[in-house]
Amino acid sequence: MPARLIDGLALAQSIRAEVKNEVAQKAPAVGRAPGLAVILVGENPASQVYVRNKVKACQEAGLHSQLIELPLTTSQSALVAEIDRLNHDRTIDGILVQLPLPDHIDDHVIIHAISPEKDVDGFHPANAGALLIGRPRFRPCTPYAVMRMLASVQAPLRGAEAVVVGASNIVGKPLALMLLQAGATITLCNSKTQNLAEKTRRADILVSAVGRPKLITADMVKPGAVVIDVGINRLANGALAGDVDFDAVRPVAGAISPVPGGVGPMTIAMLLVNTLESFHEHTR
Ligand code: GUN
Repeated sequence: MPARLIDGLALAQSIRAEVKNEVAQKAPAVGRAPGLAVILVGENPASQVYVRNKVKACQEAGLHSQLIELPLTTSQSALVAEIDRLNHDRTIDGILVQLPLPDHIDDHVIIHAISPEKDVDGFHPANAGALLIGRPRFRPCTPYAVMRMLASVQAPLRGAEAVVVGASNIVGKPLALMLLQAGATITLCNSKTQNLAEKTRRADILVSAVGRPKLITADMVKPGAVVIDVGINRLANGALAGDVDFDAVRPVAGAISPVPGGVGPMTIAMLLVNTLESFHEHTR
């Protein structure tokens, strides 16, 4: 039997509808909608698509959004000043600076400049540390999305073997912490990992977040495993593909998320969830 499909698009639509409902109920009472500021520096075409999708999703859910597009030549200090302005803007609950940033700007300085109370990406060291000690405030949107997708198929996490391939600050590391918190035994693999297939074959939950098409082949998957594909790769023919060889893995897995239509739309939905949460905190 082929694996159950984890439809990120449908799940994201239902979460966005819930956010929209909550906004419609609360915004009139407090006199404003939740506000998200999205900053893009430069003209990276993929980033332009991502930020426009984020802003569009905000508008559809009734949030107030501000897209701030700055030229590639923007200095680090000018970007910090812009963030500081938004830190003090009472109509803004969330600030997101799209990564990657141009080489002349230090990501760490920028992430540090965002108020932890408005850091809906969950990247600030205060929020990363809160997640580390099991007291999360804002969870990074992509791993948060993965956790919601696992919940949608009732994947048992307590005592499960979870293998995460890719150890980035944005996805792999925070996801490993969330899975650990949920009671899974985690293996976090990176580009130096030896015998990757040996590790992935043990996984009840397998997540790949590397950015290499067909990295995960059918022989690397335990029968019945839940497979979540965080990869987004543009193939030579222009098509989008994940890290998982979907057609080959689907007959082996118990449940699997596609690309496109999997983690991508869910990441945006979780950004709205975080922004709404921040709004609740700021309007208590
Ligand atoms: N670039 C790729 N993913 C992300 C994300 O989740 N947040 C931000 N700010 N930039 C990204």
